[in-house]
Amino acid sequence: MASDGSGLRRVLLLVCLVLCVATLPRRAGAWGADGHHAACLIAEPLLTPTTWKAVNSLLPERANGSLASLCTWADDIKWMWKYHWTAPLHYIDTPDFLCRYDYDRDCHDQHGQKGFCASGAINNFTSQLTNYELPKASRPLLTKTRASEYNLTEALLFLAHIVGDIHQPLHVGFTSDAGGNTITVHWYRRKTNLHHIWDTEMIVKAEDVYYNKSLSNMVDAIILNITNNWIGEAQLWGECPKGEIACPDTYAAESIKLACQYAYRNATPGSTLADEYFLSRLPIVETRLAQAGVRLAAILNRLFDTKSASQRLASH
Ligand SMILES: *[C@@H]1O[C@H](CO)[C@@H](O)[C@H](O)[C@H]1NC(C)=O
Ligand SMILES: *[C@@H]1O[C@H](CO)[C@@H](O)[C@H](O)[C@H]1NC(C)=O
Ligand SMILES: *[C@@H]1O[C@H](CO)[C@@H](O)[C@H](O)[C@H]1NC(C)=O
Ligand SMILES: *[C@@H]1O[C@H](CO)[C@@H](O)[C@H](O)[C@H]1NC(C)=O
Ligand SMILES: *[C@@H]1O[C@H](CO)[C@@H](O)[C@H](O)[C@H]1NC(C)=O
Repeated sequence: MASDGSGLRRVLLLVCLVLCVATLPRRAGAWGADGHHAACLIAEPLLTPTTWKAVNSLLPERANGSLASLCTWADDIKWMWKYHWTAPLHYIDTPDFLCRYDYDRDCHDQHGQKGFCASGAINNFTSQLTNYELPKASRPLLTKTRASEYNLTEALLFLAHIVGDIHQPLHVGFTSDAGGNTITVHWYRRKTNLHHIWDTEMIVKAEDVYYNKSLSNMVDAIILNITNNWIGEAQLWGECPKGEIACPDTYAAESIKLACQYAYRNATPGSTLADEYFLSRLPIVETRLAQAGVRLAAILNRLFDTKSASQRLASH
């Protein structure tokens, strides 16, 4: 009996060794699920009714009218063969220690293909979505309109996800450490990497310490700040310098600057990061989640509700 059990265990272990290693991502990615949910939950109440109508017509039925519920879709499908090409769309590698981002120099995949990075992807999916037409009443199920050769449901889900990613400072990080992925540190007593601390650990820690372990409480606190403490600056976050629909170069340039000022600072390999790091960096995390949400809403409103273009946060 014992040998049966251990034999089975050995087979399972072998299967896992093969499968688990084969499916390990080249680099871990993306704000964790909580970061993406937060950004989308912050965006949702800022969408105008006209924008909601368009978003809803693109969302699959299983989303049940919730954009946030599918904000991690782009991570969920990354491992599939069909979507392997999308892995580089979640981040941007910039030159080591330069602390600057340049689209022409930095936005490419590992083969040097131009435009295959987070900012290029935001431009790509935004431009695809400009072809959206509200489905005609006579063709209510048609979400892929004649005007677009692309799947606009996917364009929406990629856009909602990548606008989140590009605001995580270390998603626009140094090339040689893969945005902090190869910098091993201790987070309190646990070993992890710097990238993961910014994707996930700081958000989870904040939920535990300040928000009764609830993401939704944390999101409410951030929204309260957007509509009160930060209202002046928050109104400007959504705007683009040249009146573009989306301006990912602005978001990326901010991220690498914050990565240098806050994320990489005092986070050398082998160091232990604890309260001092957490307390001084958490405000950056909260502001970036706020900016991601406000900007995602602004982009969607400009895409789907042209009358909202001049509308401001205060009117909501
Ligand atoms: C779908 O959304 C509605 C309204 O937002 C809610 O009442 C309902 O419980 C949701 N259904 C599921 C299956 O989540
Ligand atoms: C833009 O997206 C389409 C799929 O929707 C893809 O085929 C194309 O390669 C993408 N281009 C870039 C630069 O991301
Ligand atoms: C668009 O993409 C979604 C998500 O991958 C998929 O469920 C849907 O079937 C696609 N629609 C079309 C018309 O191909
Ligand atoms: C914290 O959450 C639990 C359930 O998750 C709830 O019972 C409790 O009342 C909450 N505490 C506060 C202070 O809100
Ligand atoms: C809200 O804003 C205040 C003042 O800027 C800041 O101290 C606080 O940490 C913010 N809270 C959240 C959840 O962003």
